[in-house]
Amino acid sequence: MGFSLTGPTLTLRPPQPGDAEALLGLASDPEVTRWFSWGPYTDIEQPREYIERCAWQRERGEQLDLLIIDSERGPAGVTGLSEFSYRDRRCMVGTWLGADFWGTQVNRESKAIIAHLGFEILGMNRIGSYSNPENHRSTSALEAVGYSREGVLRQWHRHGARYLDVNVFGMLRDDWRASGQAEIEVSIEGTPPSAFLQGL
Ligand SMILES: CC(C)(COP(=O)(O)OP(=O)(O)OC[C@H]1O[C@@H](n2cnc3c(N)ncnc32)[C@H](O)[C@@H]1OP(=O)(O)O)[C@@H](O)C(=O)NCCC(=O)NCCS
Repeated sequence: MGFSLTGPTLTLRPPQPGDAEALLGLASDPEVTRWFSWGPYTDIEQPREYIERCAWQRERGEQLDLLIIDSERGPAGVTGLSEFSYRDRRCMVGTWLGADFWGTQVNRESKAIIAHLGFEILGMNRIGSYSNPENHRSTSALEAVGYSREGVLRQWHRHGARYLDVNVFGMLRDDWRASGQAEIEVSIEGTPPSAFLQGL
């Protein structure tokens, strides 16, 4: 559908059927999916189903997942906006990267691009995020790009039979404007799916 966002070294766009192989490679690593309710991928059908699900979630304005593509190294992972409340102009962000991309500029730049999308293009006032309290890397990574830890939501996520607490973080539009994230230049090609434009 021809929609993409580009920063200094990355392009973000909706995943397409042809990306299944790359996603299988990135998320077949148990370290990458350790904190998630899904994965690791073991079969190409799993990323194929995920890519199909993304398409109908986009149509409904429920979730906007984007493949992160490094201009030199290719697909790096996924970042996405979900849990939209258009009335309150807020949503949540989540990100995962292949382990080869951890500790690079990819997390920071992809978060800047998706923040630009949320605040500048979709009219959001708040972007939140979650981390597992034991996932120290993810917690530090969110704080490092300007998300404030606001508290713990008890038994918020169900993974199989277990209910897990989560840290909840937030970045407000004003926080974003005052952060280094807003200084990263982002260009957009095409328009986001219309279902996500309800906050404008
Ligand atoms: C979460 C994720 C996207 C972050 O990207 P990243 O490239 O690893 O993050 P960064 O390297 O930019 O930042 C990690 C920060 O944690 C710190 N860190 C690394 N390992 C750590 C550990 N074990 N304990 C505490 N801090 C740690 C780093 O020093 C860095 O902080 P700094 O920027 O202040 O130096 C990536 O690790 C990932 O995809 N993880 C697997 C999926 C996942 O857990 N997603 C998040 C779900 S909430």
